[in-house]
Amino acid sequence: MTFKRIISAILVVACAMMASASNDAKMDKFIDNLMSRMTLQEKIGQLNLPVTGDIITGSSVSGDVVGRIEKGQVGGLFNMKGVANIRALQEVAVKKSRLGIPLIFGMDVIHGYETVFPIPFALSMSWDMDAIRNSARIASIEATADGICWTFSPMVDVCREPRWGRMSEGNGEDPYLGSEICRAMIEGYQGQNLADPTTMMSCVKHFALYGAPEAGRDYNTVDMSRLRMFNEYFPPYKAGVEAGAGSYMTSFNTIDYIPATGNRWLLTEVLRDKWGFDGFVVTDYTAISEMINHGMGDLQTVSALALNAGTDMDMVADGFLGTLEQSLNEGKVNMEAIDQACRRILEAKYKLGLFDDPYRYLDAKRAKKEIYTDANRAEARRIATETFVLLKNDDHVLPLKREGKIALVGPLANTRANMPGTWSVAAASDRYSTLLEAMQRATAGKAEVMYAKGCNVCYDEELEKNSTMFGREMRDPRDATAMRDEAVRLAQQCDVIVAAMGEPSEMSGESSSRSSLTILDAQKDLLEALKKTGKPIVLLNFSGRTTVMDWEVENLSTILNVWFGGSEAADAICDVVFGDVAPSGKLSATMPRNEGQIPLYYNHLNTGRPNPKWFTKFTTNYLDVPNDPLFPFGFGLSYTTFSYGPLTLSSNSMTQAGSITASVTVTNTGDYAGDEVVQLYIRDMVGSIARPVQELKDFARIHLQPGESRTVTFSITPDKLKFYNSDYDFVLEPGDFEVMVGTDSHHVQRLPFTVN
Ligand code: BGC
Repeated sequence: MTFKRIISAILVVACAMMASASNDAKMDKFIDNLMSRMTLQEKIGQLNLPVTGDIITGSSVSGDVVGRIEKGQVGGLFNMKGVANIRALQEVAVKKSRLGIPLIFGMDVIHGYETVFPIPFALSMSWDMDAIRNSARIASIEATADGICWTFSPMVDVCREPRWGRMSEGNGEDPYLGSEICRAMIEGYQGQNLADPTTMMSCVKHFALYGAPEAGRDYNTVDMSRLRMFNEYFPPYKAGVEAGAGSYMTSFNTIDYIPATGNRWLLTEVLRDKWGFDGFVVTDYTAISEMINHGMGDLQTVSALALNAGTDMDMVADGFLGTLEQSLNEGKVNMEAIDQACRRILEAKYKLGLFDDPYRYLDAKRAKKEIYTDANRAEARRIATETFVLLKNDDHVLPLKREGKIALVGPLANTRANMPGTWSVAAASDRYSTLLEAMQRATAGKAEVMYAKGCNVCYDEELEKNSTMFGREMRDPRDATAMRDEAVRLAQQCDVIVAAMGEPSEMSGESSSRSSLTILDAQKDLLEALKKTGKPIVLLNFSGRTTVMDWEVENLSTILNVWFGGSEAADAICDVVFGDVAPSGKLSATMPRNEGQIPLYYNHLNTGRPNPKWFTKFTTNYLDVPNDPLFPFGFGLSYTTFSYGPLTLSSNSMTQAGSITASVTVTNTGDYAGDEVVQLYIRDMVGSIARPVQELKDFARIHLQPGESRTVTFSITPDKLKFYNSDYDFVLEPGDFEVMVGTDSHHVQRLPFTVN
């Protein structure tokens, strides 16, 4: 860089800092003035977030919302869809409440709006940050066109617990990948400027550790060491602060025996003091009143606990609204805490531009033009193809040729409502295609697609009912044997069987934990019967978590995990099944052989008696199952093959402030163009605390034509080698390290290096 360039760069940064300081000063002045006119009740009103609208995401509802808005008792609302509905309530706030403070309108825009992208767990399988950022950007454009300015996303709970249904909403088991995704999503939602009417405020959730509930049961106790929190579970939340997230949501679980919503260490000492978060904290749905069940006291006590811990906004519990005034009078909370929470919420509204124009996000013309557009749908379809993970493809059954007769069977083959996946509350499912429709379109005039459902989700009607809520029912009243026989007869006439099976979309998501993760009984029986026909079977496994597939891997030649691919899933599946696009997804979570191995994750510590194989007496192992997974973290096949040249390092040593590079040349050695995700892992060989056997520290997704080679170079910087030590300091301890580069966490080349 020349001297002139350095000076001009410094000037640009200085100008930006001055502009932001003057914006802050303007905002402070505005809010000081507003707050000087607010009564105590109006300040407490800003801390209140009732629920209203047709979308159901919890069991409690809020009463007399309009009356409360008029009285200045509401800071924001969520779960309402549509510009006209939202405008009507914003008008009440602006025109009828004493100070006319606008409301903030939130929604769970988790993986798209009406254009629905794959569920977050699936998106994480793409390892494609540009795609993920763009999915959030498109979600933001559509949601803001429909009146929403605040999304309860990204969900960044690290999860090693596939029994937990909300694995579907997160980014898998890895803190590094999860952090990258968190950043990309916030950039996508918030853009450069929150006041831009096409951007919305993000809300990082669920703070914290919600992804580690005991026994995988939703809402259950979490208990872990603080070192594990800092090194393995906190990084994605911290990345959210670094990316400028506007808000955080507390989790339902306890942390160190104190519910997150009332946990001052978590919400103030870690989030604000250590990490520097300066936005606002909202609770999860009724999390304040749930602290009564946690045994923390009555509503007044738990509300005071929440405020004093650092919670700013109360979602649905009515704890702040109903008790804070009394707590203030009794000295259980102070005015400073109420003022501070109120200020944080007003600041968010200011940054969103709501004080300039409360109707900024309520332009009915935009809603007509910008939602579920052809361009958005095309991008959702393209991205979905990147999320499918090819687990097995013996005899190259996939891709299918567009010829002959194809038997499409299974309970997920002809359902529309299940395609977008869980947590797609704004979905317009009747506009989406079923797999059957898409397959018929994709093969029109070339092949015949014949369909039979073959079985219900499972034999147990009650289980199916509980797993197909919110208009996603699919139970077929016919006799199970008759359904199965019909499918077998159909399969016998066909050249290949495509089985669309797995979980319906509400079998994962909130309050959808499972104790058994195998394919459900009726579907398994159907697969066994189909296998007897001797026809090749392609299993398309729909799921919102990693499932147990030992039988399928043993018995079927071809398995493509398609998760839930969003509104365009059906077409995207066809793009991959018929070979227009080669699959490229890589697992962001380890697939266990059985439920007893859980939690099973790649970045574990070593034991004193390690055993990479199966049984050896007096080593760490099971009698009845190997230690290793069915498929490791990072795994995923393509239609093409990639070969890796030798791994090289720019030097085998670096200083504590220096860096070295690791390079490898990857060649597409097959017949299809395809994408490969090259992964870099590090092991710190000796530390002051035990260190994981490997940790993902970088990755690159590259596209290669057949025969094409590319050299991928990763920079190994001090940050990639640091960890939290016993004093919770983030340190680099000099010594021996190992770098691993490869196609997944198990298939790597290793080289040693030292830090001096
Ligand atoms: C969920 C949150 C969600 C909230 C609002 C809760 O039940 O845990 O993830 O954002 O509802 O819908």
